[in-house]
Amino acid sequence: MPMNRVCEMTGAEFPLFAFSHCRDVVAAVSKAGGFGVFGATRFTPEQLEEELAWIDEQVDGAPYGVDVLVPEVIDPAVRALVDNRSRAAAIDPSYQGFVNEVLGKYGVPPEADLRVMPERMGITPENGLALMEVAFSHPIKLIANALGIAPPAMIEEGRKRGVPVAALVGAKEHALRQAEAGVDIIVAQGTEAGGHCGEVSTLVLIPEVVRALGRAGHDIPVLAAGGIMTGGQMAGMMAAGAQGAWTGSVWLATPEAETSEAFRDKMVAARSRDTVRSKSRTGKPARQLKTAWHDAWDAEDGPGTLPMPLMGMVSEPAFARIEREAAAGNHEARELVSYFVGQGVGLVEQTRSARQVVHDFREEFLDSVSGLASTLDME
Ligand SMILES: Cc1cc2nc3c(=O)[nH]c(=O)nc-3n(C[C@H](O)[C@H](O)[C@H](O)COP(=O)(O)O)c2cc1C
Repeated sequence: MPMNRVCEMTGAEFPLFAFSHCRDVVAAVSKAGGFGVFGATRFTPEQLEEELAWIDEQVDGAPYGVDVLVPEVIDPAVRALVDNRSRAAAIDPSYQGFVNEVLGKYGVPPEADLRVMPERMGITPENGLALMEVAFSHPIKLIANALGIAPPAMIEEGRKRGVPVAALVGAKEHALRQAEAGVDIIVAQGTEAGGHCGEVSTLVLIPEVVRALGRAGHDIPVLAAGGIMTGGQMAGMMAAGAQGAWTGSVWLATPEAETSEAFRDKMVAARSRDTVRSKSRTGKPARQLKTAWHDAWDAEDGPGTLPMPLMGMVSEPAFARIEREAAAGNHEARELVSYFVGQGVGLVEQTRSARQVVHDFREEFLDSVSGLASTLDME
């Protein structure tokens, strides 16, 4: 029986990969026959250990994976800062003043000090590697990395343990570099995607990456990411050469997700043009729901954004304040509620359970595959 390569490598029943920072989504998707991938970046190693132990208990042997971020390129200005205390100390107080000014316009009260992020948390190479070690101590069936070439330690450990290593890329050249470094699966992610992304659309990137890998003699399967919200889109990308879909935004509109009710309501109301690719949340270009926060930081007369991970140390406490105020009924604060989300947000019509999303993807996938052949009488 022919078998989908990525399903064979990971044990997924249906090649729908669900990236989420929420363990409930990961477990629900894996149990429904998709493949949940737990995004580890916002946890300390100890917290990740707890989250993965919970997932292990829930999934009853169903396959799941973990995604860590080991950034390859570090801004020289932050390289010498080795802990979060010294990073916080390096941020000019005027940035906090700017945050208070932007939030103040929307009735969010000021806060005196930058809160120091717990140590061993934040997107740095050391933290990514520490999270990777925790991930490998669990029965994961995939480990993924983004923001650069997968580190040699990940590739070696993956080989030793028989865990495929996936790498997210936004350009053909990056896919070729990852293939040469030895990764097992390429996740080609278009600019439509929520979170960190490049500039090429998914529709162009998938055939471009599949073709380039093939021509260079790399027999590596590709997953398509960016803007995929339906089983029909998934089928389209598989027709273009991908072995499956890697999704993020669609899970944010499930009640299991980490998103607030205010954000989920905004997702239902949003159009595909309401997102922006901006450095103003993490320090690297990431797609998110556009608000006055992004206008202020990206304005020519704004203070300019800080490098990763300093920008996150300024923005995350601010977004937490905004969410708190919105949840307490402050309607002005609601205007500033934002999160990473892709252009596919324009296709969100309602919230659905994660299990239902997997079910709908399967149905739409099958309908579109059989429908296409039959409408042209080519079966
Ligand atoms: C809220 C959110 C957070 C994300 N965080 C990460 C991350 O930490 N690591 C990563 O590799 N990708 C991250 N991504 C990107 C996803 O892995 C995925 O490639 C992307 O969501 C696919 O595009 P889509 O959002 O249009 O489905 C994130 C995406 C979203 C929506």
